[in-house]
Amino acid sequence: MKYRTFMNNEENVSLLGFGTMRLPVVDGDSSKIEEALAIRMIRSAIDRGINYLDTAYMYHDGYSEVVVGKALKDGYREKVLLADKMPLWMARTEEDMDRIFLDQLRRLDVDCIDMYLVHNVNAQIWKKALKFKVLDYLEKKKSEGRIKHIGFSFHDEFPVFEEVLNAYPWEFCQIQLNYMDTDFQAGVKGLKLAGSLNIPVIIMEPLKGGKLTDVLPQSIRDLWNQAPMKRTPAEWALRWVADFPEVLTILSGMTDMEQVDENIRILSEADPNSLTETEQKIIKKAADEYNHLIQYSCTGCQYCMPCPIKIDIPDLIGRYNDWFVFERNQKIRDDFYAWVHPKARPSACEACKACEDHCPQHLPISDIMKKAQAVFETE
Ligand SMILES: NC(=O)c1ccc[n+]([C@@H]2O[C@H](COP(=O)([O-])OP(=O)(O)OC[C@H]3O[C@@H](n4cnc5c(N)ncnc54)[C@H](OP(=O)(O)O)[C@@H]3O)[C@@H](O)[C@H]2O)c1
Repeated sequence: MKYRTFMNNEENVSLLGFGTMRLPVVDGDSSKIEEALAIRMIRSAIDRGINYLDTAYMYHDGYSEVVVGKALKDGYREKVLLADKMPLWMARTEEDMDRIFLDQLRRLDVDCIDMYLVHNVNAQIWKKALKFKVLDYLEKKKSEGRIKHIGFSFHDEFPVFEEVLNAYPWEFCQIQLNYMDTDFQAGVKGLKLAGSLNIPVIIMEPLKGGKLTDVLPQSIRDLWNQAPMKRTPAEWALRWVADFPEVLTILSGMTDMEQVDENIRILSEADPNSLTETEQKIIKKAADEYNHLIQYSCTGCQYCMPCPIKIDIPDLIGRYNDWFVFERNQKIRDDFYAWVHPKARPSACEACKACEDHCPQHLPISDIMKKAQAVFETE
């Protein structure tokens, strides 16, 4: 395993981190983790050098923290940096933060969480973070020895990232990055900004949640097959992320032991700035090809928002695009039903077109909602 350092070389972190949002489950039920297998996978990864473990309060309906806690028994706790997060959207009052934090320590059965993040920061959550003085709370926990390092995970546009990054002396941050999402949310620009401020970056969704490895469009299959170097889709994607020296660790949510084996192999071989110009060109071609399959080029600028009936328009356009890019992968439908509130599905659109007046790309949003309804809401 390759390692990278932070805190002036005090902490040594494995380049592959174990994300526990997609552990193996029974009968496709996310709240029923296949516990014995998950524990075996986590311990086997630690035995082979992984020392960063990421969980959160809501993963697997709270069961991820419990299983991670069990995996860390028998001497494994001391071998890892354990990461967990404060879900501020679940806190109605400031006091709720303490209730959640204590719950996390109890579920994990630990005294201290090494890497603690304000979870899923966007403009709205950041406002709440300031209102609830979450950083004062976390600093108190740090002085009590309950937290070692304070960071945040991020899901919004670059200007918000810049604001949050500059607002506090963060010890680390976490962003989504993969070769398709270079300009999405914080993007490569955000990664470089964090690097320039000496803030190490943890990467999530390096395989776009498995969409870059699952069902490949024929054109992408051809591209990988014709490449002079033989690599799996996961290898192309992980090596692209690992090439950035600003990256501290890459979290992958591994679902079976083969994925653990493969990702360990890949990130035991990847050095920063080691991809050749030819390799970079091949990856860029794959990204271009994926982007070519996109139906509507929404940039996620949010100018269309808020929708009077609370439809998350950019999110739904993204899901609709994914349906075509990833060859009608069932996972995209499953995610739609898991994450989109029944009252905010495309069929709720009343075609008032208020959004269309504001869209800088002039997208026919109400038509897109009808098409998305046909894709996601009909049998
Ligand atoms: N803080 C936040 O807001 C936030 C948000 C998202 C994620 N996260 C964290 O970041 C972690 C990483 O994100 P992610 O889970 O989306 O990571 P990811 O690596 O992009 O996606 C994981 C999925 O990729 C597939 N996969 C992994 N290794 C593979 C391989 N070698 N070959 C083929 N397919 C492979 C698996 O899908 P299949 O099993 O379906 O093939 C797996 O479930 C999460 O687990 C979570 O801990 C945090």
